[in-house]
Amino acid sequence: MSFTVAIDGPAAAGKGTISKAVAARFGFAHLDTGLLYRAVGAKVLAGAAPVAAARALSPVDLERDALRTPAVAQAASEIAVNAEVRAALVAFQHEFACREGGAVLDGRDIGTVICPQADVKLFVTASPETRARRRFDEMVNKGMDVAYDSVLADVRERDARDQSRAASPLVAAEDAILLDTSDLTIEAAVAQAIAAVDAVYPDAG
Ligand code: DC
Repeated sequence: MSFTVAIDGPAAAGKGTISKAVAARFGFAHLDTGLLYRAVGAKVLAGAAPVAAARALSPVDLERDALRTPAVAQAASEIAVNAEVRAALVAFQHEFACREGGAVLDGRDIGTVICPQADVKLFVTASPETRARRRFDEMVNKGMDVAYDSVLADVRERDARDQSRAASPLVAAEDAILLDTSDLTIEAAVAQAIAAVDAVYPDAG
């Protein structure tokens, strides 16, 4: 049986942590679709043409650490405005969503464009300041030398680009459950997401 959970929202709202926790709780596979865009962005930074890079993408390109830099995040957001790039990444996401045993996909347009028939849709958000603070703390913990103000500026710039692009902009699906994590601990946010899936998942124990 396939069962799809779509989790959308802006950067650093908690989508990744929530998605992993939901996948672990229900035994679903998880795809962080931002990695697809990051992998294309990284190839473009290395000199590739965006559409060709997206068409040639393979699972090994999604190798994690190298894709988690602010420069790659910005490049990902920039190539993500390109409708041909997005089209090249659709089939991989559809196949993943329809796999047997259930899937969680997180991104920006999963509930609206990639999986409009998803069984559960969550839109996870938080204020830009909260999200910038979380990203800043993460970077400092990794030993990176960054200023909070520049992290906040990056968050705002990426939000503006992701929300205003013509191709699949970041927007909550009409039937998505809104989860604002600004004043929630991660444990509370995860519990709410699991409860939302529990309410509709037929085999939930
Ligand atoms: O979730 P992330 O920060 O890894 O995403 C990086 C960029 O990729 C994001 O700014 C916009 C783009 N993206 C997208 O357009 N659609 C998705 N489903 C996922 C990410």
